Amino acid sequence: MENKNRAQFSSKFAVVAAAAGSAVGLGNIWRFPYELGSNGGFAFLLIYLLFVFVLGMPVMLSELVIGRRSQANASGAFRVLRPNSRWHLVGLLGVITAFIILSFYFVVAGWSLEYVFQAVANNFVGKAPSDLSQVFTDFTTEAVRPLFWTIVFVFITAFVVLAGVQKGIEKISKILMPLLFVIILILCFRSLTLPRAEEGVKFLFKPDFSKITSTVVLSALGQAFFSLSVGMSCLITYASYVSKKNNLVHTAFEITTLDTLVSVLASVAIFPAVFSLGIDPSKGPELVFITLPNVFTQIPGGYFWAILFFLLLAVAALTSTISLLEVITAYVTEEFKLKRKTVILLSVGVLIISSGLSSLSLGVWSNLQLFGMSLFDFFDYFSSKILLPTGGLLISIFIGWFYKRKDTFDELSNGGKLAVPLFNIYFFLLRYIVPIAIALIFINELGLNK
Ligand code: PFF
Repeated sequence: MENKNRAQFSSKFAVVAAAAGSAVGLGNIWRFPYELGSNGGFAFLLIYLLFVFVLGMPVMLSELVIGRRSQANASGAFRVLRPNSRWHLVGLLGVITAFIILSFYFVVAGWSLEYVFQAVANNFVGKAPSDLSQVFTDFTTEAVRPLFWTIVFVFITAFVVLAGVQKGIEKISKILMPLLFVIILILCFRSLTLPRAEEGVKFLFKPDFSKITSTVVLSALGQAFFSLSVGMSCLITYASYVSKKNNLVHTAFEITTLDTLVSVLASVAIFPAVFSLGIDPSKGPELVFITLPNVFTQIPGGYFWAILFFLLLAVAALTSTISLLEVITAYVTEEFKLKRKTVILLSVGVLIISSGLSSLSLGVWSNLQLFGMSLFDFFDYFSSKILLPTGGLLISIFIGWFYKRKDTFDELSNGGKLAVPLFNIYFFLLRYIVPIAIALIFINELGLNK
């Protein structure tokens, strides 16, 4: 039954645009290239692609089933489908994960705003890669400016989420997602025509399997879940706004393909330039921020390319931060019967503190550490490499073992109206492969076997 009082996306395109907006973000343009660069290039890419389609997509499909079937928030959804059990805690885990991701994500999103202004001020001109690296380090370790941009980003996000599902999230995603795609394509073309671009292409597409270690495998798993926005009930929340007529299998396939395409294209835009400029591909989080400004200074119209790119990065980040804040907002609003506005204001307060601390942990408060990592690095590591795979593991166990197979089929086939040709494969992956694979990867890398 449709719940008439709940907000809904207005069209099929809006659903894909909003969910792809959540998936496509800093994870694709900032995180994917540096993870790939630090984890051996093509070998990482291959494992990543395997994980996206074999582990990520089945979990995504399950989240869509849970959300649309229950028409409830991350935690309420499990209560509707499995009353009087503890499964609702999986939703709560998702809400906590959203807080932790936002606590470092807002910081990087803030960096992209600073770089828009650096680009407007034409500050990249005449700077060698090492100078740009210094600019990045000076900026991110400073106290006030990164903090300021982080807070600005928290407010922009809160403002959009306050506008609600159709007016806010949908409108922004519908216009900006297609634009983002076009701009990345243009950047790829520019990067591929730089001198010595072939070396970057070789790094991206020539296998070197000696580079595969358990760390590389866990990184690829974390990156796959992070990039697809799965494992933390974000898509449960979005699917609760999806019409009963929507084809969920098509939606999952479209989001996954789009997201993966953007990550691969972002790497094609970055690595030829990295090699052309002689930058170390394993530079880590600064990779995008030192590579592209260099490229822009070397091309005609570079001034405008640079502004456009960092604006695009900020926009991609925004469509993801709104989805993360929506998880928290829907949960607290429905579970504690509070007004949306109150919840958003409260979240803003908490998030300013947590992301502020995470920003300061990179510089003036560098002794703010957990498990030998800065708070920023800890939030990143803990959310993507531990919490998201754990969430994915639990969601796959829920649908694979604790929810009726025929109900899952019923939801995916819209009550028997649609054909679901690969249902058996999906269910097999979910029931056996996803939980076993995630468990093995954890055991292997986290030393649980020692
Ligand atoms: N998928 C986003 C990105 O790649 O930047 C990050 C993200 C958004 C992760 C929403 C998880 C999530 F629920």
